[in-house]
Amino acid sequence: MPTVSGPDGADPGLAAAGQARIGWAERTMPVLGLIRESFAASRPLDGLAVAACLHVTAETAVLVNVLRAGGARVHLAASNPLSTQDVAAALASWPGVTVSARSGAARETYYRHIHQALDSAPALVFDDGGDLVNTLHEERPELLAGVAGGVESTTTGVARLRRMAAAGTLAFPVVAANGAATRRMLDNRYGTGQSALDGILRATNTLLAGKTVVVAGYGPAGTGIAERARGFGAQVVVTETDPVRALDAVMAGFRVLPMAGAAPLGEVFITATGSRDVITPVHLEVMRDGAILANAGHFDVEIDVRGLEKLAVTVNPQIRPSADEYVLADGRRLILLAEGRVVNLVAGEGHPAAVMDVSFTVGALSAVRLTSARPPLPPGVHEVPAETDAQAAGLMLACMGTRIDELTPGQQEYLDSWRYGS
Ligand code: NAI
Repeated sequence: MPTVSGPDGADPGLAAAGQARIGWAERTMPVLGLIRESFAASRPLDGLAVAACLHVTAETAVLVNVLRAGGARVHLAASNPLSTQDVAAALASWPGVTVSARSGAARETYYRHIHQALDSAPALVFDDGGDLVNTLHEERPELLAGVAGGVESTTTGVARLRRMAAAGTLAFPVVAANGAATRRMLDNRYGTGQSALDGILRATNTLLAGKTVVVAGYGPAGTGIAERARGFGAQVVVTETDPVRALDAVMAGFRVLPMAGAAPLGEVFITATGSRDVITPVHLEVMRDGAILANAGHFDVEIDVRGLEKLAVTVNPQIRPSADEYVLADGRRLILLAEGRVVNLVAGEGHPAAVMDVSFTVGALSAVRLTSARPPLPPGVHEVPAETDAQAAGLMLACMGTRIDELTPGQQEYLDSWRYGS
């Protein structure tokens, strides 16, 4: 099959470097390697078109390869223009793959790329944030009938889908891969925990030990960040709006404050809420000189960047890669990382490949479920079944060489029975 590349495709000169990155990622993604082998044998996606709007990274390339091994043709657009790596060029040279992605693409180009992926009239969609599924419903409704289902990767995208389902507008079943227990543990918590701090350190090379780090949001992502920041020796303050999550943070030994109370104390701020306007001019006005602002939430709305621009009398862009300095009227300097976008992807390399190994395994297994379920899954948001989680976790443990106990028949019978009491 000839290789087709989107009209805005990546520079072919980068293909060799991109292929090397993919090879490196593949080494640390052994679970997907096993899935690829089984897909190559059973071809569960034979002849299907898959439209995917995902971060165009080496790890995503490994997933694309698995889908391809399963028989799918894959049409990939970038879910975040700033996270696109040179792997786009390598992917574009693979048979059966179309890539529309360019690093730093403007909004108009970003949506053109999504439309190019949708031009494939997909039977399956992979989304990360909900923009592809949204565009499909709003602007390409003629394609909806051909879609068997979708897989959504992130919390923010799943929240959008649930609102669509509640409004009765979601036209096909979508598996909330983000909700999988393995995914929330490895990706949101351990992945974001490590990679958000990695992005901040690459952008600033700041010493975290002894610093006051404010983490907004104590969901899995915020929990991972708070734990890792503490591991670096930082004094961590958590802000929350949910009393249960806030109580959890207090019990874990973190100081919990409203953002108004945390703003004058913090030296590094990291938002991970999935909400908007978490840090606003009210907070910026009382921050310390040199405070570092970073966002790990999906969209760039958590830090009010426009508000920051209005407050600043001078902006010194790129004082370091991914770091812009905003000078306020009284001379205080606030350092905004990655323009308020996902810091781990823009200033770092995103999650380690080993984390994405399990997340994408859940996605690949969900794709098979969507195409093979009889009767087909009804339109709506579907959770990942416990068996899929157990399968993915079991494969990862096996790849790590970690063995666990199995329930004996007697234990199983005891656990299943209601007859045993005191
Ligand atoms: P979650 O929804 O489980 O947790 C978010 C927490 O933030 C909740 O406990 C909520 O009560 C709290 N919150 C909401 N508004 C707040 C506010 N104004 N101030 C303080 N706390 C507030 O979500 P999860 O899984 O922890 O993800 C959080 C965000 O991170 C989402 O946008 C998600 O898409 C994103 N994410 C980013 C990743 C990355 O690689 N950077 C990876 C995984 C998730």
